Amino acid sequence: MTTANIIDGNALSTSVREQLAERAAALKAKGVTPCLAVILVGEDPASAVYVRNKVNACEKAGLRSLKDVYAADVDPAVVMARIAELNADPGVHGILVQLPLPKQFDSDAVLEAIAPAKDVDGFHAENVGALMQGTPRFIPCTPYGVMKMLETAQVPLKGAEAVIVGRSNIVGKPMAMLLLAAGCTVTICHSRTRDLAFHTRRADILVAAVGKARMITGDMIKPGATVIDVGINRLPAEQGGKLCGDVDFASASQVAGLITPVPGGVGPMTITMLLTNTIEAAERCV
Ligand code: GUN
Repeated sequence: MTTANIIDGNALSTSVREQLAERAAALKAKGVTPCLAVILVGEDPASAVYVRNKVNACEKAGLRSLKDVYAADVDPAVVMARIAELNADPGVHGILVQLPLPKQFDSDAVLEAIAPAKDVDGFHAENVGALMQGTPRFIPCTPYGVMKMLETAQVPLKGAEAVIVGRSNIVGKPMAMLLLAAGCTVTICHSRTRDLAFHTRRADILVAAVGKARMITGDMIKPGATVIDVGINRLPAEQGGKLCGDVDFASASQVAGLITPVPGGVGPMTITMLLTNTIEAAERCV
């Protein structure tokens, strides 16, 4: 029996995307069609699905999209040249390079090559710095989506204990900055943390972003806590091959007060916030 209330990422995405479609239409009326350029390198099936979903979401909301796909063994100089071209194209408002990149790439150098004003992922050092200083220009899409979910569910943030499991540049670190700015006391846990459960059990807000299927179980959660599951893991075929999060939903939902499901939780919100950032980038151009 589920006791926790669900934060429905699909429903929230639908309503936010309706508002975004109106903003896209207003821009078009002024002669500006918001445009996102996506670069995918290699054949990672999960990345291919994410990119396809991003491009489809653009189309549905009335944004234009460009998609460049390169073989896994492409010369990084080719991709860098394409980024320079997109930087210079006034018809392109957002540029996203899907991560991870193959081994021959210096990912940091690629992210730094994107014009900061078009960096809708918020991964450029200039935008990371702006976020840390409390003057964000582009907020990374996944943590931005999480904040939107917490706000919509009216989760109290001031003075709350927030524990993030995962320290990635894409989720863990920017998530910490946003929760800190919102008044939480923030702890970041990671693979070297001693006694993970000691920390997670103190959390009023627990964000799981580690990429390990079902590693956060009900006994690690404070009764009534808000549990945000950022993980998207595919179970092995012998376990059904389904998608699941970093949180063991069956046990966690018996203890938590609010919880996000996988699929249908944070995932759709990530794409929604990418559309938001792209529209904002275009609005800054008119
Ligand atoms: N790979 C996993 N998440 C992301 C993301 O938010 N942006 C990009 N560019 N790549 C990712």
